[in-house]
Amino acid sequence: MTNDTHQEYDDDLTALLEAVWGEGFMSPGGTEEVDRILLGLDLADKSVLDIGCGLGGVDVHVASAYPVRQVTGIDIDAGLINKCGAMAKKHHVSDKITFQQVDPGPLPYDDGTFDLVISKDSIIHIADKHALAGDVSRVLKPGGVFAASDWLAGYEGEPTPEMAAYVAAEGLDFGLASAGTYENALTSAGFQNVVVSDRNAWYRTTARSEREDLAGRFYEQLTTTVGREFLDHQINVWDLMIVALDQGQLRPTHLRAEKPQ
Ligand SMILES: C[S@@+](CC[C@H](N)C(=O)[O-])C[C@H]1O[C@@H](n2cnc3c(N)ncnc32)[C@H](O)[C@@H]1O
Repeated sequence: MTNDTHQEYDDDLTALLEAVWGEGFMSPGGTEEVDRILLGLDLADKSVLDIGCGLGGVDVHVASAYPVRQVTGIDIDAGLINKCGAMAKKHHVSDKITFQQVDPGPLPYDDGTFDLVISKDSIIHIADKHALAGDVSRVLKPGGVFAASDWLAGYEGEPTPEMAAYVAAEGLDFGLASAGTYENALTSAGFQNVVVSDRNAWYRTTARSEREDLAGRFYEQLTTTVGREFLDHQINVWDLMIVALDQGQLRPTHLRAEKPQ
């Protein structure tokens, strides 16, 4: 049974994130980052599962720009899922995408359902990486691929006080883990050819320009949408995030792994 109690990303936050990151995106880099996550993969006639689809920008891009057979975007937040359909319709890809609200926990699909499982910056919210990796492997067909990006911890154990301050300011339910934990989870689940690509250097630069836009060219417009107090708080979150990025504590990362044939 699903419910609509999972609402961490409210309308103000999603409006601000879309202003910075583009229509349908709640994570940085937009369609270029999605293309980088999928680089070199053959998506022809493939069935794709997207874990944590948010507002559906990733799914609309995949369904528009790649010759996939079908995309299923899932999210625990009913409010977000309800908004996804309009974007798919606007971009004429409704026939290729199914959006579904799910409960946290095991993926509600049979073994071997998908050719590709993707996720963009959502697994941070799922604390048990080993359980998730096992479940992703289960729903993939033999030879299927897992391709994702996520926010990783650049530390084992305790964060620096600055990283802790950033996480507290976000106020979101984060289950941060290190690259070692992700690699171990994927290999323990039977994946092979696990590739972990760090994106910290890219995002250290990008985050600075986003912060500049929030305090500059977007500021007046966004105050009318989300209010000055909320906007100023989010600019402060960006400042704290930039420190965490500079310290190497917060590490945007791409992940790729293959389920053996
Ligand atoms: C940072 S947003 C990213 C959304 C989207 N992938 C994007 O890049 O725009 C993280 C998303 O993960 C979702 N989420 C959190 N826990 C989840 C879970 N256990 N299963 C599926 N989605 C989850 C949240 O509701 C949110 O929409």
